[in-house]
Amino acid sequence: MKITVIALSYVGLANAIVLAERGFEVVAYDKDAEKVTKLENGEPSFEEKGLSDALKKNCKRITFTTDEKEAYEASSVVFVAVDTPSGADGSADLTHLQEVVACIKKYAKEETFVVIRSTVPVGTNQTLNEAASESEKKIHFISNPEFMAEGRALMDERSPSRIVIGTSNKEARDLMRRLYAKPISEGAPYYEMDGASAELTKYASNLFLSLKISYINEVARLAEPLGADISAVALAMGADPRIGHSMLHAGVGFGGACLPKDGAAFAKIAHDQGLRLSLVEDTLAINQTQPFFLYQKIVKKMGPLSGKKIAVLGLTFKAGTSDVRHSAAEFFAKSLLADGAIVSSYDPSVSARDSFAKQIPSSDKYLSSNTLQEALTDVDALVILTEAPEFASLDEAELCSLMKGRVIFDGRNLYDIRHFSFFDYISIGRPERKHE
Ligand code: UDX
Repeated sequence: MKITVIALSYVGLANAIVLAERGFEVVAYDKDAEKVTKLENGEPSFEEKGLSDALKKNCKRITFTTDEKEAYEASSVVFVAVDTPSGADGSADLTHLQEVVACIKKYAKEETFVVIRSTVPVGTNQTLNEAASESEKKIHFISNPEFMAEGRALMDERSPSRIVIGTSNKEARDLMRRLYAKPISEGAPYYEMDGASAELTKYASNLFLSLKISYINEVARLAEPLGADISAVALAMGADPRIGHSMLHAGVGFGGACLPKDGAAFAKIAHDQGLRLSLVEDTLAINQTQPFFLYQKIVKKMGPLSGKKIAVLGLTFKAGTSDVRHSAAEFFAKSLLADGAIVSSYDPSVSARDSFAKQIPSSDKYLSSNTLQEALTDVDALVILTEAPEFASLDEAELCSLMKGRVIFDGRNLYDIRHFSFFDYISIGRPERKHE
């Protein structure tokens, strides 16, 4: 069977590769010609674990194209992974989805099943199906939200924690069971429901993850005046299987392309129904102020920042990705520059370093380093913002020889508070540790 996949970022590309791994012939479309040329040469335009190898292994079953007509005419099953960024009022901007719908009308086969993997407002699939029922073609829209996290997108797609299918159409349900026969046979939980429930499952899941993070961050704020250690607390809390350890690490808050955007969209969806989801709103509000919580400590500890040189380590929104969207580093770099500091930045990902520099107003006080050692040279303090392995295994003797100052701010709680002997160590939700 041939399947078309529309839009080849994290979700679409992982989706296309896994469909090819499962034996389907895939036509993979993106309007970005540069991206498509790279993919034809076996190179993804972003860093994602395992993607390059998987792409090379499956290239015979994937045809890449920038030709809309060719893509939509090729198959009667179209997977859609276009982005739905935040609009000005927080709602999901559906411009790219509307472009897809226009192409379906124009080019799709007489009977086409359109599988929406993008995160869309609750009710979107129903609206699309109602509009489609007036057309001469038989077009069925099916909600099939993705639950992939960056850094493990392929793994999440190959062995999903669950598969959610939202459609009331029997043919569509039969088709989706055939498409997902492999993970179903391997025991992946498979849930069929109506479109609105599937769409709501996606938002409710992402917001629950966000809620856990904001909750532990809020408890971390309380832990400090009480003299408690949030890492010890979270470890013991998470041992209860009803709570679990994941998404329970206190830090500088959640970033990335999904959780902040989906939170804002979810609040807007509720607002449009005349409801206020106070837990969702508080989750977002705590997250917005969480980077500031650490920044205040920098200001308090370092005094006037003007002329001080500070290393900012970790420019992505989390380790294991090159994605700098909604990263805490943006707030830190901009705030430090605004306060007159010199920012010495570093990330293990070369492309993250390049794309991050574009987000920062050009300044001779912003230094982008190619190595960790370069970033640490002569700095008064360092700030850790992601859990990259390089930052979790800093060599104290080397820090002493490179750095001018003796202060470490750890926005990810990567070390035991007694780990460093010659540095003041300041983290989140734990007592400050003064050097010996
Ligand atoms: C998330 C969801 O996990 C995924 O299911 C969904 O499909 C897309 O959004 P992703 O954005 O890739 O995936 O990142 P995730 O690993 O969930 O982390 C999100 C943010 O939360 C990161 O900034 C991360 O550093 C932060 N985080 C995560 C914490 O601060 N504490 C934690 O315990 C976990």
